[in-house]
Amino acid sequence: MAQNLSVQARSESYQVEMLAGMESLKAMGSEQRAVEHWSGLFVDTLNIALDRGRLAAWVESLTGTLRLASPLIILVVGALLVLGGTLTLGTMLAMSALAAGFLTPLGNLVATASQFQLLGSYLERLDDVFDTEAEQERARVRPAPKLAGQIELEQVSFRYGPVATDAVKDVTLRVQPGQFVALVGRSGSGKSTLASLLVGLYRPTQGRIAFDGGDLRGLEVRSLRSQVGIVTQRPYLFGACVRANIALADPTLSLDAVEGAARTAQVHEDIVAMPMGYETLLSDGGASLSGGQRQRLALARALVRKPAVLVLDEATSALDAITEQQVQAALSQLQCTRVVIAHRLSTVRSADLIVVMDEGRVVEQGTHEALLHRGGYYAHLVAAQLASTTS
Ligand SMILES: Nc1ncnc2c1ncn2[C@@H]1O[C@H](COP(=O)(O)OP(=O)(O)O)[C@@H](O)[C@H]1O
Ligand SMILES: [Mg+2]
Repeated sequence: MAQNLSVQARSESYQVEMLAGMESLKAMGSEQRAVEHWSGLFVDTLNIALDRGRLAAWVESLTGTLRLASPLIILVVGALLVLGGTLTLGTMLAMSALAAGFLTPLGNLVATASQFQLLGSYLERLDDVFDTEAEQERARVRPAPKLAGQIELEQVSFRYGPVATDAVKDVTLRVQPGQFVALVGRSGSGKSTLASLLVGLYRPTQGRIAFDGGDLRGLEVRSLRSQVGIVTQRPYLFGACVRANIALADPTLSLDAVEGAARTAQVHEDIVAMPMGYETLLSDGGASLSGGQRQRLALARALVRKPAVLVLDEATSALDAITEQQVQAALSQLQCTRVVIAHRLSTVRSADLIVVMDEGRVVEQGTHEALLHRGGYYAHLVAAQLASTTS
């Protein structure tokens, strides 16, 4: 029974995946392979369903036979006993009446037992959910105060699973309110992980994080997250109108506030040019938008709450250099701490603090000039980028 559930889940999730990844499948010409794979999964569910049907049929026919044959047997045996003189006719009739009253419920009981078994496997599934610990115990935390945007990391390490290696290792970092921090490093060096740690999306496996001096462990996460904005590498747009997508955190926000955020994110003009302006429906999860538009919408969504800390994780990577400069210039007017992960030198060089990461560790930190002067990892990175743009 439990097998039935898991096989069904596998087939259905693959089906959803197949539809969502249609573009890639077609581009790779692997529709046929995908269909074959899905057929395999579907046959599995059919086989399990057949097995179940067979079992059900067995149970059904057994109980049916029992129900039909038992009165007959009782009658025959009873009649023989009565004829032999061991039983009176009255007792025999009473017994057959009683047996009928007993056997029908018994048959039903057997049929119900198989349903109980199914219930068992559903309950098992529910257990997985109930056993998951809540992210925080309400009684032991207090709501975060209004944050100024200071963040302190003390020897913070983080790994994604018990057997994984540390994605962030032994990082000590101090970010001042209103500071513009850039995280650089090659892909896989732990930039995104560190950014998520900086806004309290993950709790460190080791070490301590404090916001405005208050330990993360003592702060209620929701009140903290309402004061930080993060634009991830893969922002998700919902099948609602543009306005609802920007005002995701608080649907009661005025159109003015939404527009203001869209202007700062340099996406207002794009939205106004859409067929229905701010009411344009993004029914396809934003597939009708360009990558840059999607990123700027996600940025507007983060800005609309006026966060104390704003994290941009390669959030302007799909923009052209000029628009990216405009966005960064608009953001520098805001009163908030900015943590930006970017590859373009033009974005990184004006940061107050550049943090260079490699294999989860912070290998260098300082301003553009100081790091160039040092001639280390960052200087290498800059030289490589300059070489590739001039050649
Ligand atoms: N959700 C995740 N689950 C497990 N491992 C992850 C996850 N996200 C990232 N990692 C691993 O953590 C390391 C750092 O990744 P990431 O912080 O995304 O690097 P970057 O943003 O610098 O490219 C990588 O080795 C990556 O495989
Ligand atoms: Mg990343």
